[in-house]
Amino acid sequence: MKTVRITLMGFGAVGQGVAKTILSKNEYLKKQGIDLRVVGITDSKGSDINIDGIDLKAVISRKKETGTVATGNMSALDIIRNVDHEIMVDVTPTNIENGEPGLGNMLSAFGAGRHVVTSNKGPLAMRFSELKEAAEDNGLFFRYEATVAGAVPIFNLVHEALAGNTVTGIEGILNGTCNYILTRMAEERMPYELVLKEAQELGIAETDPAYDVEGIDAALKLVIIANSIFGTGATYHDVDVTGITKITPEALELASQNNSVIKLVCEAVDGKLRVAPRLVPKRHPLAVGGTLNVASIQTDLAGRITISGKGAGSIETASSILSDIIYIARHL
Ligand code: HSE
Repeated sequence: MKTVRITLMGFGAVGQGVAKTILSKNEYLKKQGIDLRVVGITDSKGSDINIDGIDLKAVISRKKETGTVATGNMSALDIIRNVDHEIMVDVTPTNIENGEPGLGNMLSAFGAGRHVVTSNKGPLAMRFSELKEAAEDNGLFFRYEATVAGAVPIFNLVHEALAGNTVTGIEGILNGTCNYILTRMAEERMPYELVLKEAQELGIAETDPAYDVEGIDAALKLVIIANSIFGTGATYHDVDVTGITKITPEALELASQNNSVIKLVCEAVDGKLRVAPRLVPKRHPLAVGGTLNVASIQTDLAGRITISGKGAGSIETASSILSDIIYIARHL
């Protein structure tokens, strides 16, 4: 049995999803020969540490009752540097002003010899090459499947299953909130404000939903794809972005009369990165409904491969995080 110690930086919806998933998969992991222990957890108010493994049930209850995991106040950076562990899991919120606190957590983790798993888009959309180099220079894994399209394993697919292929272009729908809004407006003829509120109630919209509807979240994901798959060294500013705020019910109706739907499509083709509403035929593989995400990958050997699934949600995102943790654990 291999003991793998992790720290969890951030305990919002995704962090709690990771904790619940580790609890529910305990036996499954043991059968795989992995004894996974969480030795440190932080949130914005404090931290909890136990070098033998934190009682995750107790932390989830404490967070619910008191609003924090805190039993102490050791900072994330102190924990990363001073508490022995193999993998630092950063699930702090995305910040596109300066990437913090995720960026500092990740660079410190690489400096301290910890592998990194993350769902945090900000640092990767801003400083991907630097992070990748820091991981490589220290001989450490840097895994970020959960940053793009929640449960949908785009990076695993391209880097593992499609290894040997050259990817020539990617198109996709990478924001569940926009897809939900456009689907409900088109199918139920509901007003924009009401469906946006529904998306917020489903818990899939960003804290500031402007990030969703103005195409910012989708653009961040496209940049991460471009950097990871094409090695472009792009940042958010290299994406030509148009959101969905100007899409009218009339435009959706007109599209429907022509057997089409309007989708917020992300594309990385010929070195250009674009996020914009586009007309898509109703039977096209990109025409997925509701909160679904989809990525359609054009390759030289395998042709076109299209993959679709849940792009948000705490357990769905935790699925990708757990898969990255297991990948690393198997290679330790
Ligand atoms: N707000 C995002 C979405 C959540 O709607 O897709 C997942 O990154």
